[in-house]
Amino acid sequence: MTKPIQGFSKLTKEEKIDWIVSNYTQDAETAKNILMRYWNTDVDLQKLHDEFIENTISNYYLPLGIAPNFLINTELYAIPMAIEESSVVAAASKAAKFWLDRGGFKTTILGTEKIGQVHFMFSGNFNKLNTFFKYVEPKLRSEAAVITRNMEKRGGGISKIELRDKTAELANYYQLHCTFETLDAMGANFINSCLEEFAKTFKKEALCFAEFTEEEKDIEIVMSILSNYVPNCLVRAEVSCPVEELTDDPTDSKEFAKKMIQAIAIAKVEPHRAVTHNKGIMNGIDAVILATGNDFRAVEAGVHAYAAKDGKYTSLTNACITDGIFSFWIEIPLALGTVGGLTSLHPLVNLALEILQKPSAQELMQIVAVAGLAQNFAAVRSLVTTGIQEGHMKMHLLNILNQLGATEEEKLTLTNHFKKNSATHAAVVEAFENLRSQ
Ligand code: MEV
Repeated sequence: MTKPIQGFSKLTKEEKIDWIVSNYTQDAETAKNILMRYWNTDVDLQKLHDEFIENTISNYYLPLGIAPNFLINTELYAIPMAIEESSVVAAASKAAKFWLDRGGFKTTILGTEKIGQVHFMFSGNFNKLNTFFKYVEPKLRSEAAVITRNMEKRGGGISKIELRDKTAELANYYQLHCTFETLDAMGANFINSCLEEFAKTFKKEALCFAEFTEEEKDIEIVMSILSNYVPNCLVRAEVSCPVEELTDDPTDSKEFAKKMIQAIAIAKVEPHRAVTHNKGIMNGIDAVILATGNDFRAVEAGVHAYAAKDGKYTSLTNACITDGIFSFWIEIPLALGTVGGLTSLHPLVNLALEILQKPSAQELMQIVAVAGLAQNFAAVRSLVTTGIQEGHMKMHLLNILNQLGATEEEKLTLTNHFKKNSATHAAVVEAFENLRSQ
């Protein structure tokens, strides 16, 4: 077994690589070459990436694709997507084109509220705690003023600070439940700095609050942290068109609309299906979140909590037919930023935002929600018509051919062959082997 290492972070990048490849890989030389192939020849760009995280040994590339033709309200967008899964960008582009011909996507911002909490323990009289909270609340704001000044100048800041009694769920547990407006910033650093300042003031002021007993004065701050559950930082995206316009043939249209409604209804009631259904939505959402340098883990956590907000995990999209109009929509919480974080640091993120016409955070919420809705429409449409394997395997064909080591000429021949034939993994391998043996 390899021995634990002390001071790994102090080693140079080359030393780290030597240690990892000699201790954890079969062929150190090959492993080192792989890592170094992904280094950027632009030394400054490489240094920038090296410094994003700790212990960097190489770069991990994802393809950056473009899904064009997204008509959102009155703007036409080409959406950058960073994702490894074949067929996601193609599916988004197809859905964009489909709805471009049917009036495009309509979006509405339903809220922009971000949340943070100071979690604390207090054993004593709740009425006294409440009186103390009313006394200290203005001080919480004033002592955080150094942090909030700039945000306030731009129109954001602390919206509300509430005292919440959580003792029914956990003995002695209370919160300062705080809401914020962080404008174009995702706001994690702003919110966490405010919360830590609130916690300090709260603890300090409690120590000299005359109405408290000695025990009550000793408020125990457990932690201060933003919440990634943001049900009031919400955006709605929708598409609609007369049922008969859904396909070229009105009879097919009716059948297709019915199947779409059934598929959504199933995802509404059946959590196993809802998870996969929502995963398809996140294919679109995460790809744009990544391309624009936002935090996909935060978005994922918040979105899935929202999908379970009524006590059961359910579909994030909805569909209905009213007066012959098919409507399909999503409401989704998205706390995003278009300033701060990676947005100005990472050249590709910066470019992705430029391609999106330098959106505000609210505009980005709308674009991301549309990418999720489009992705879901494309996936469910395939599922209820041809099945997804047909399109998916066609897109996956190149990956299989690359794995098999096909030459460019062989790829061309086999891509043409599979335009007319079903591209299962076994069929691709067989066709490749036949071609090679000829
Ligand atoms: C695959 O990445 C996503 C789908 O499974 C989504 C869905 O089933 O709706 C196709």
